[in-house]
Amino acid sequence: MRVLLTGGLGFIGSHTAVELLSRGFEVEIIDNLKNSKLETLKNIKKITGKKPKFYKTDLLNKSALDKIFRNNYYDAVIHFAGLKAVGESVEKPLSYYRTNIDTTLNLLDIMKKYHCKNLIFSSSATVYGNQDGVKLTEKNQTGIGITNPYGQTKYMIEQILKDTACSDPEFKVTILRYFNPIGAHYSGLIGENPNDIPNNLMPIIMKVYTGEIKTLKIYGDDYKTKDGTGMRDFIHVVDLAKGHVSALKKSLKTNATNVAIYNLGTGKATSVLKMVKTFEKISGQALNYEIVGRRPGDLAKVYANPKKANRELNWQAELTVEDAIKDVLNYLLKPAADLKLKLPVARPHYSISKAFSLLGLKNPLVKLGAHPSRTQKSTSV
Ligand SMILES: NC(=O)c1ccc[n+]([C@@H]2O[C@H](COP(=O)([O-])OP(=O)(O)OC[C@H]3O[C@@H](n4cnc5c(N)ncnc54)[C@H](O)[C@@H]3O)[C@@H](O)[C@H]2O)c1
Repeated sequence: MRVLLTGGLGFIGSHTAVELLSRGFEVEIIDNLKNSKLETLKNIKKITGKKPKFYKTDLLNKSALDKIFRNNYYDAVIHFAGLKAVGESVEKPLSYYRTNIDTTLNLLDIMKKYHCKNLIFSSSATVYGNQDGVKLTEKNQTGIGITNPYGQTKYMIEQILKDTACSDPEFKVTILRYFNPIGAHYSGLIGENPNDIPNNLMPIIMKVYTGEIKTLKIYGDDYKTKDGTGMRDFIHVVDLAKGHVSALKKSLKTNATNVAIYNLGTGKATSVLKMVKTFEKISGQALNYEIVGRRPGDLAKVYANPKKANRELNWQAELTVEDAIKDVLNYLLKPAADLKLKLPVARPHYSISKAFSLLGLKNPLVKLGAHPSRTQKSTSV
């Protein structure tokens, strides 16, 4: 089975490529490298022993996309490519609508032209809008109270996909609504490494840990939650990637439904403060954070009811927030290990700072994480 991953060198795409390749799928990748690096391709090969065919192509370039499909047959496409920073989408709405919607329309046109009739789409819990504190099921309302253009694009694309599937009974669409992906591959070879200022909690924590960002801002500690900070459903990216494999297998079966929608989450919510404290405990290093006022539009508690995916996809999230943090630290430490600093690269069950001091070394992460072109900035969760 040959699968095309758009945006397959990004955070979730690269982990999905690994899971697919290790189960015998043939994988090809399109990515314009806007938010990823070519190095990830080599690292996918290091993990799986297989190097996917790669096209450095922008999905906005329809004729380039046409050429790829003209020369290849795909059993399915997993569509990850797009812009995903919520805050940036408020500043640059047209760029978000153009990129996320037009890339999808191009892809659908070309898939139809070449009779490729199976698409899996990366959607987001953000389509549930302002529903707060309820375990969200796929039947919950969508589209009401979405507070940013990024979320609107996901909602609109879901509608476009449903209409497309409705017009062609042979066209199968699977919409996967992700909650909050975190973590990295346990090898330490692939993980989340945004090219720009990160927007999600874990990459910000990582950059505060390495010293690249000075302070983590936690927006609000007066929500009606245990410790007052917002709670989210954090899912390990490897679990999420496995969810794609399960969804793909299901949709490739002839009796699969025309449009299927699944929440991919753990069903558990962890607070932002708890996440910070757990990271501090596992890393052995205090994080510089400050509590500031609430951000408009933020919700107290957002988490999934993943039972439909558990039942129909025979899939369930298995890894914990602790696993994700250990894997993220491992990913951060990999460069140090490659510099022949003798640090273990398996999931570290020890304090990272302590490990460095035991070796008589200064923690090199500050240097490794820092980007020379950036000054220290504080940023948001
Ligand atoms: N990470 C999250 O928290 C999260 C949550 C919910 C949904 N999603 C969705 O999942 C998908 C993947 O997310 P991710 O975290 O891996 O993001 P990512 O930015 O790491 O990956 C997206 C990839 O798409 C590529 N890309 C962007 N625009 C492109 C274009 N025009 N043509 C070709 N390639 C292009 C980027 O270079 C990048 O490699 C996105 O659609 C995102 O909206 C992510």
